Amino acid sequence: MPHFYARKIDNPAYPISKDGFLFSLVANNIKHNDDNLVLVRYKNFSFFFMQQDRGDKVLVKYNKHLRFNSIDIVKKALKTYIKLCNADILFHNLNQKKDKENLSPYLLSPTKENISKLYDKSNPLSIEIGFGSGRHLLDLAQKNKDTIFLGIEIYSRAIEQVLNQIRLLDLKNLYIINADCRILFNILDSNIVDSIYLHFPVPWDKNPSKRVFSKEFLKESERVLKKGGFLELRSDSAEYFSYALDIANNFNAFDIEKSINSQTRIISKYEARWKKQNKDIYEARFILKDSINSTNDVESNLNFANLDMDKILDSRDLKLFGDNYFLHIKNIYKFDNGYVLFVLFGAFNAPSKIYLLINDYGNVEVLGDIIKTKSNIQSLQLIKKWSK
Ligand SMILES: C[S@@+](CC[C@H](N)C(=O)[O-])C[C@H]1O[C@@H](n2cnc3c(N)ncnc32)[C@H](O)[C@@H]1O
Repeated sequence: MPHFYARKIDNPAYPISKDGFLFSLVANNIKHNDDNLVLVRYKNFSFFFMQQDRGDKVLVKYNKHLRFNSIDIVKKALKTYIKLCNADILFHNLNQKKDKENLSPYLLSPTKENISKLYDKSNPLSIEIGFGSGRHLLDLAQKNKDTIFLGIEIYSRAIEQVLNQIRLLDLKNLYIINADCRILFNILDSNIVDSIYLHFPVPWDKNPSKRVFSKEFLKESERVLKKGGFLELRSDSAEYFSYALDIANNFNAFDIEKSINSQTRIISKYEARWKKQNKDIYEARFILKDSINSTNDVESNLNFANLDMDKILDSRDLKLFGDNYFLHIKNIYKFDNGYVLFVLFGAFNAPSKIYLLINDYGNVEVLGDIIKTKSNIQSLQLIKKWSK
């Protein structure tokens, strides 16, 4: 991640603008004096730097929690910041290959509205989860121009590279969302997807609760797929494969086609790696027998307006729990005119992160994405405990 170390830096007088960036404020962790957040605004994006005192040096690094997708712009912002605070640099990793912006129109924020714009009755919709280098997804999109493709990934570097390829190949049918698919699937409409590709998911043998494939995931796949649509799993892990089959066999919603070492038209980066090591590659297609009728409306009533900072500061415990969800105010930062809260929330197995910027007049700005799933909404509603 982009960062620099400096012997010392002078704190500029915030807010301060330069090179198109607004360095809006610095906020200090109320429990750890050496930990600060610098809020940076660029066009309609916001992201943070973490600024930490490390004895005889200062570390300033990009904080990736807000899922901003242009590392090049982050590097540019850090270089501007170096100038503004007269940093006496010891080390940096801010060299850019090209001085370009990669704010692509094909990168969507994770809202129901954005996704529903992608499909209509005439265009098939296909999803690839965890596309990594994008080899498979880019090939599909090039060869099936009438299909709309949606790639879902959590790794910003991979996203940036694929957005670059979309531009170079002039693709008009491939969109990307930076989100955990286990959360995002909950907000997809029912019966809209023709195919889902899940190729070489991380096996998480030591922590199966982190796996993408689960009973809940298959249930959501059943809901979002059209009749005859399919979910395709490829994996080098015999354990993951049999775990997935066990779940699907208990479902009865899918016809299952299995194969080992079947040829595919395009070999993904991970598949190439496992083939080189002579590993077996397992494939299963879960083909939906019948579409199910299920609506997916979530009452998304969220209100942060009446938060009482005194109550929050007086609380001994900043963790709250529901049946299968939680809310945790993990860090509190103070700035001149208010507070920044770093909040973890959502389902236990798929937590999300946001920052709440609360000024002295009680105005609250949410920084970060709230994917409006039932557990996300329910968990954020717990914050009412600290309302006026
Ligand atoms: C082992 S790599 C496989 C990449 C690619 N499919 C291939 O075959 O080369 C797994 C990918 O899944 C992504 N990933 C892991 N968990 C995810 C999740 N919950 N939602 C979306 N993507 C995820 C990772 O960032 C990584 O890029």
